[in-house]
Amino acid sequence: MIPLSLKEIADITGGRVHGLDAGAAALVVDGPVVTDSREAGPGGLYIARVGEQLDGHQFVPDAKELGAVAAMTTRPVEDLPCVVVDDIQDGLATLARAVVDRHPGLTVVGVTGSSGKTSTKDLLAAVLAAAGPTVAPVGSLNSEVGVPLTVFRVRPETRFLVVEMGARGVGHIRYLTTIAPPRIGIELNVGSAHLGEFGSREAIAMAKAELVEALPPDGLAVLNADDAAVRAMAGRTRARVQLVGTTGEAAIRAEDIRLDEAGRPAYTLVTPEGTAELSLALHGEHHVANSLAVVATALECGLDLDSTVRVLATATPASRWRMEVSERPDGVTVVNDAYNANPDSMRAALKALVAMGRGGDGTPRRTWAVLGSMLELGEESTAEHDAIGRLAVRLNVSRLVVVGDLARPMATGAQHEGSWGDEAVWVPDADAAHELLREELRAGDVVLFKSSRDAGLRWLGDRVAAEGAATGAGDGTRDHTDDTMEDAP
Ligand SMILES: Nc1ncnc2c1ncn2[C@@H]1O[C@H](COP(=O)(O)OP(=O)(O)OP(=O)(O)O)[C@@H](O)[C@H]1O
Ligand SMILES: [Mg+2]
Repeated sequence: MIPLSLKEIADITGGRVHGLDAGAAALVVDGPVVTDSREAGPGGLYIARVGEQLDGHQFVPDAKELGAVAAMTTRPVEDLPCVVVDDIQDGLATLARAVVDRHPGLTVVGVTGSSGKTSTKDLLAAVLAAAGPTVAPVGSLNSEVGVPLTVFRVRPETRFLVVEMGARGVGHIRYLTTIAPPRIGIELNVGSAHLGEFGSREAIAMAKAELVEALPPDGLAVLNADDAAVRAMAGRTRARVQLVGTTGEAAIRAEDIRLDEAGRPAYTLVTPEGTAELSLALHGEHHVANSLAVVATALECGLDLDSTVRVLATATPASRWRMEVSERPDGVTVVNDAYNANPDSMRAALKALVAMGRGGDGTPRRTWAVLGSMLELGEESTAEHDAIGRLAVRLNVSRLVVVGDLARPMATGAQHEGSWGDEAVWVPDADAAHELLREELRAGDVVLFKSSRDAGLRWLGDRVAAEGAATGAGDGTRDHTDDTMEDAP
């Protein structure tokens, strides 16, 4: 964090310093600011949240052990000097806002949408980092706690702050924009994800629009023109609008989109600053939309087209279980996209799977879709699962393995669409799917794992990738820092 004394922190948050000695107020915090004592470090501030299960105050000694020099608490503690505040969430939010305000040279970019926030945030961070020190969330930290924690990683030299903004309800994104007020706002899409929580697609659109409503007049709203609900947000912002997409209306657009034999998209990028050929190293056509939003933001931040395209062409997935592709020595390709799923990302992943099944040398490969449930679809749940099953048949996926009770209508949908024999099967859990794959997966097959926040399928994808492999993404050695509890759509 930028250095702040406990007196400054108390003044900012309206708290009071409780010291072990008279010098406490002058004590300066300049290390990591954390809510998890296990992540504490030298010179840092430990924030003691009180959760439903645990009271963070009991971990103050652990934070001290790892080098934290102070704590933010709601009652005095004896192990560390602390700033005592009335409400920890308010304390977190006001302190984070003060960090942004003390850094006038910082460009804040907010990213929201029903799907693709983390993927886009990772791409954008890679591109901006080439132009200057950039802070972006670890994993998918996009909530009222994750956003302040990301802000605290800003250092005096930081130039760009990328903030993922998720919402579980109306008003959530507005609140996040008060913590980290963005000058650029990216709106990716308004999907049917989490329809159950919001009630209607209109309510989701209203909630997502809060990002562009918060932009200043000299800011920029980057809107996906291919999504009608996002396109309509042009009327909800004071900022300039940059449309991106595939329609002629979008000044930054993709033309002639192709998927290669690994499901990676390439396209002709048209911008006001020139045209370029762009081949992404990421898998799935949905990354076209994500990369267009990144291009618009990069150009707004002063990057030139060439260097933007250069970084985009080499960026690989930075967060786990998002179209993570591993090649096994026996020729099986595993695509682990089991981080999350909604109808839109299911469709995108199935299309990428089928593109991979076409085979580079003209020899078709067998394709497997091992699909779990899509959560939080409310009343639409059965119909949406049914539709994915039917799509798998229409796309000619060789084998559909539907996992778990909630996803069962996918198997029924596939059968109604005309799949026969064992083309579409239902299994109760990941173990049963594993057994089936162990028996029937053959050299040269491509297998996709996808589900909503299903640890069983993530594990299964990793496991299957490792079974034929000595190395690669599926060997379980990558870090698992993605904290799904922090996620909001
Ligand atoms: N533009 C997009 N449209 C549809 N699906 C996408 C898009 N971008 C990524 N996806 C897919 O959606 C899933 C979630 O991606 P990602 O984690 O980037 O989204 P997110 O919005 O951050 O999700 P969360 O709300 O869980 O934080 C992945 O399976 C990914 O492949
Ligand atoms: Mg995310």
